Amino acid sequence: MSAFQRRDGELFVEAVALTAIAGAEGTPCYVYSRAAMEAALDAYQSALAGCRHLVCYAVKANSNLAVLDLLARRGAGFDIVSGGELERVVAAGGDPAKVVFSGVGKQAGEMARALELGIRCFNVESPAELELLDSVARAHGVIAPVSLRVNPDVDAETHPYISTGLKENKFGIDSDGALAVYRRAAELAGLRIVGMDCHIGSQLTSTGPFLDAVARMLELVDQLADEGITLRHLDVGGGLGVRYRDEQPPAIGQYIAALRAAVGERDLELVFEPGRSIVANAGVLLTTVNYLKHSAWHNFALVDAAMNDFIRPALYEAWVDIETVSDGAGGETGTWDVVGPVCETADFLGRGRELTLRPGSLLAVRGAGAYGFVMSSNYNTRPRAAEVLVDGEQWHVVRERETLDDLLRGERRLPN
Ligand code: LLP
Repeated sequence: MSAFQRRDGELFVEAVALTAIAGAEGTPCYVYSRAAMEAALDAYQSALAGCRHLVCYAVKANSNLAVLDLLARRGAGFDIVSGGELERVVAAGGDPAKVVFSGVGKQAGEMARALELGIRCFNVESPAELELLDSVARAHGVIAPVSLRVNPDVDAETHPYISTGLKENKFGIDSDGALAVYRRAAELAGLRIVGMDCHIGSQLTSTGPFLDAVARMLELVDQLADEGITLRHLDVGGGLGVRYRDEQPPAIGQYIAALRAAVGERDLELVFEPGRSIVANAGVLLTTVNYLKHSAWHNFALVDAAMNDFIRPALYEAWVDIETVSDGAGGETGTWDVVGPVCETADFLGRGRELTLRPGSLLAVRGAGAYGFVMSSNYNTRPRAAEVLVDGEQWHVVRERETLDDLLRGERRLPN
């Protein structure tokens, strides 16, 4: 059952009415359901029962400490892309031994800290990174566990900005050249080869591209085995899509079953790096209508959230559902462009939406749990929104709304 339900015309998250949260915390405000996040993680874990596995939640999707905390308590590992994300995992009580470190531009200091904490694996993306990691590890008198991120050159059939597994993308090591890089890794005293990884893109809605990528990886895994290089794990990355509108992505269980079948009897631990499919539909962005405005062409609902709060519609023309939190609150029925106060034409949350609105209407922007708050900015000197986590009948402010003092802290006027 969805954690978001309407009761007597009011939208609830678990047992809490969204109007209550908006009343107490104001808007814009992100609201997440603990149960929805846990259910998604559980779907991964249970579909992987009976095979060695590690689900490493992709921290970038939603890095709030409370979110990391609840997932860590349920056994998740973490996929990180920066030293900052590593410190968040530690602060949230996550286990560094379950952390994989992805990213094309890791710096020596980040590597050193990750080695000190004893992370599970570095997902190396280039020969130059491999050499640097080797020297950092040797300088610290430790051996770094490595996986090479293979770029399998498959079309993820998703938005070009979130496609990562094509030859022309900056990510990973060309699968044609991967064997040579593995051989080089095997020569380096500061490294231990433990796995192979890949991530071909995000918001994928069919299993085909995943299976193409895995087939390419398994070919390499078998070639490596012939050369005496055996891998402990296969990391297939993240990327499983969710339903925002009418997409029909495979269910988590179906997707895992297809991949398990492809891997077959090989003795490989399966690692996943899901982000969106754990948190996207576990969150909403609450926003209030400030003004209604009519022009010759459009009806505009000016709301208090903007592209700085939720940039996905502006950046990818992403469609997310927008609904009124209270039915029957009355107002003008029409087709509205829901837009924010930022001075950019791209500042919209949704266009052409059939809604009944009045000034003061509270709206819920659905599917905002992933790549929402984490991509927010202070553009137009707008403090970032609060974040709330609902847990049954209770709710917790898990991030306070930013203040203008927060924004000006660290800035200086010129000396006299
Ligand atoms: N692993 C790696 C190496 C990644 O780069 C990503 C996402 C993930 C895992 C998690 O992918 P997911 O399961 O969430 O699809 N801001 C964009 C999405 C960017 C995804 C970047 N990488 C959006 O809002 O659609």
